[in-house]
Amino acid sequence: MTRISIVYFSGSGHTTKMAEAIAKGAGAVAGTQVQVLPIQSEDIQNGRFKNDLLMASLDSSDGVIFGSPTYMGGPSGQFKCFADATGERWFKSAWRDKLAAGFTVSGGPSGDKLSTLHYFFTLAMQHGMVWVGQAETPMNDQGINRLSSYSGVMGQAMQEPPEAAPNAADKLTGEMFGRRVAEAAARWKRGGA
Ligand SMILES: Cc1cc2nc3c(=O)[nH]c(=O)nc-3n(C[C@H](O)[C@H](O)[C@H](O)COP(=O)(O)O)c2cc1C
Repeated sequence: MTRISIVYFSGSGHTTKMAEAIAKGAGAVAGTQVQVLPIQSEDIQNGRFKNDLLMASLDSSDGVIFGSPTYMGGPSGQFKCFADATGERWFKSAWRDKLAAGFTVSGGPSGDKLSTLHYFFTLAMQHGMVWVGQAETPMNDQGINRLSSYSGVMGQAMQEPPEAAPNAADKLTGEMFGRRVAEAAARWKRGGA
């Protein structure tokens, strides 16, 4: 059994929709157990994130997919509070050699989403994790990876209700990405290339 965790923050629900799409794709890979772990603002007191259960779930994961909306050109403050709390794991190299990947949603077609993905990458590298990027090209009729992101998955959503955005193409991109990460984690776990 390969365990994939999606740990993410969402302020108004758009990033949640992308997390669900990624979970659907990962869950479609035989032998994969998916945990969807939202970062709750209530778990942040005086700027410190604390949720032992969530952290233990990540400890037991083979792959971790980080997600956040892009706010002011980077991950949300809530995600950063979570990331800071992972410092305890860094001291013990607890997440070394787990697979890592990331996704973000923001209003603009660019909107500086890449800064958020690159933050996730840096976090993963600090933990000694192994990064899985996006392999799909935008040359297709379904809008898969229409925003041409290779560091991770990008979705676009302004202020519309989360039922309307990210659109079907972005969610399909997320689904395919979830599958890719789950398949990579299974290969990594059994010692294949
Ligand atoms: C505080 C704040 C900052 C934002 N900054 C950006 C930004 O830098 N770039 C962008 O394209 N959209 C930005 N947006 C729009 C959000 O990224 C967008 O609405 C996204 O879908 C929100 O995701 P959520 O529903 O998961 O919170 C910002 C929204 C908020 C509330």
